[in-house]
Amino acid sequence: MPRSAIINVMVQAAMKAGRSLARDFGEVQNLQVSLKGPGDYVSQADRRAEEIIHTELSRARPGYSFLMEERGAVDGDDPQHRWLVDPLDGTTNFLHGIPIFSVSIALERQGTLVAGVIYNPAMDELYTAERGGGAFLNDRRMRVAARRELTDCVIGTGIPHLGRGHHGRALLDLRNVMGEAAGIRRLGSAALDLAYVAAGRMDGFWEDALSPWDMAAGILMVREAGGFATDRNGGQDMLDSGSVVAGNELIHRSLLKTLQKPVS
Ligand code: IPD
Ligand code: CA
Ligand code: CA
Repeated sequence: MPRSAIINVMVQAAMKAGRSLARDFGEVQNLQVSLKGPGDYVSQADRRAEEIIHTELSRARPGYSFLMEERGAVDGDDPQHRWLVDPLDGTTNFLHGIPIFSVSIALERQGTLVAGVIYNPAMDELYTAERGGGAFLNDRRMRVAARRELTDCVIGTGIPHLGRGHHGRALLDLRNVMGEAAGIRRLGSAALDLAYVAAGRMDGFWEDALSPWDMAAGILMVREAGGFATDRNGGQDMLDSGSVVAGNELIHRSLLKTLQKPVS
């Protein structure tokens, strides 16, 4: 499958950062046994990966603006184009030696998501999507799963932890969805959660309080794989509200409905 120039640029940046993370992940697994743990080491790995992505993307497309998790917003001369970058999505997994983490890069043109790349270095899985061009996992076209009933579905989510608000809301949501779905998964990387929905591995996903860089690439991927992604009200305010609900048309609709239910 020939890739467009812009996807090539993004893939190169994501894979280079991914290789750096994979090397650091090997070290983290060694540090795991110490009492202090690999905390500082992981922050360095995260910053190193972001640095690589920033360098690669700025070199290939000078002037584009950035929104990056570590550096925040960096305005370029070209305000029409903005990269949304999470150099390491799944930090808690990484820190604990769990090989589920990713690099996520999205490109917005005039506020519209036009390209997305997510790379899981531990499994060497590369997910790409371009607006109007479909979504791919390692060059194989992705389609969202076709299941029609929530009762047959595996649904991903995120569970807020210490220091995060909305624990009550998350418990209500969990309770509602667990009563209707075949299974719930918490992978620990929102970017991969959405990529898994695009790949048909999970049938749906919802999470609240995410940041734009967690979900931008994944949202495009789900759409390009024939799925739907909205905020929990069914609107398009995902990046600002932090809430996202995804799935095929029917499962997306069922999830939206289930998440509105009061708990009986
Ligand atoms: C986190 C992951 C996780 C989600 C959290 C995010 P990070 O990103 O995407 O799955 O539940 O809300 O903050 O901190 O690992 O980049
Ligand atoms: Ca993240
Ligand atoms: Ca991160």
